[in-house]
Amino acid sequence: NTQLLTLNNGHKMPMIGIGTWQASDAEIEVAIEAALEAGYRHIDTASRYGNEKAIGQVLKRWLDSGKVKREELFIVTKLPLNANAPSDVEPIIRKSLADLQLDYVDMFLIHTPFTLMASEDGGVKRDEQGLAIPDLRTNHAATWIEMEKLVANGLAKSIGVSNFDQEQVARLLKTAKIRPATNQIEHHVYLQQKELVDFCKAEGIAITAYAPLGSKGLAKFNAGFGIVRELPDLMDVPEIKEIAAAYGKTPAQVLLRWIVDTGVIAIPKSTNPERLKQNLDIFDFKLTDEEVAKLVKLDQNFRIFNFASHHGAERHPEFRFKNEFTN
Ligand code: A2P
Repeated sequence: NTQLLTLNNGHKMPMIGIGTWQASDAEIEVAIEAALEAGYRHIDTASRYGNEKAIGQVLKRWLDSGKVKREELFIVTKLPLNANAPSDVEPIIRKSLADLQLDYVDMFLIHTPFTLMASEDGGVKRDEQGLAIPDLRTNHAATWIEMEKLVANGLAKSIGVSNFDQEQVARLLKTAKIRPATNQIEHHVYLQQKELVDFCKAEGIAITAYAPLGSKGLAKFNAGFGIVRELPDLMDVPEIKEIAAAYGKTPAQVLLRWIVDTGVIAIPKSTNPERLKQNLDIFDFKLTDEEVAKLVKLDQNFRIFNFASHHGAERHPEFRFKNEFTN
């Protein structure tokens, strides 16, 4: 019930996965249970999301009962932005594996290309103004060597990056012995990043789209930073609604089908069992070339995830996170 994409190392990755950001332990337990029941096998999480233990408990139940086999699952987690020095890599993945109650993950990603100083309590260190303090010692090439060791020692089947721009990917490719299997980026009809997507595909790097539905949940996160920012409602775009009506599908299903039709993996987040089911039920229709072209035209280069201003990285142009969004 889900298409698989063959990665550059031969491993196969389900093209729809469940996103788990901003879900409490109680919510995520219900969601993972419902997702597995609905047929999801790809789960995208991160130690920064703080819910790996809760996810691990559900996985253990399913694996112990034999309802699912480990090799059927595709579990993705990430090296957090406040601990991505070379010496962090192995301890961090071992902690995630312990929490997830797994021996290996299917994919381990460098969560962001930039680093923020860690606070004593394991969070992010902030200055007097509440801005996160960047750590300028980031060296992707050095961290990548440790990432590659995870494949050698079996802790991760595949390794990749997230939020990397073209220059950062290109630079990593110069020294990488194992090419990243994926670059997980914000990708939806309003932010198509064609150049980056085409570049990665040409280099054999699969694209995983986060916020494929426009991540309405970001408003909640923004509010925590005192940021009020109008976000578009992708499910309310007339062109999307029109196509959805023609197929008897929902706008969310059209948004996801478009992503999958362009050879990109999508990880819509939902904690609602009905919507989870809906987001996986996209393989019984296909968009025409004209419809795809119509959706391509919707691109507005609108970035929902405003990394630069959240993280104060604009003060450090070497992070290569351009503060090109309004706030
Ligand atoms: P909920 O968890 O209540 O379903 P994204 O994956 O782009 O970050 O978007 C996730 C947001 O979209 C969440 O707020 C989620 O809410 C909502 N959502 C997920 N699936 C659907 C759907 N099929 N229809 C409407 N909203 C959805």
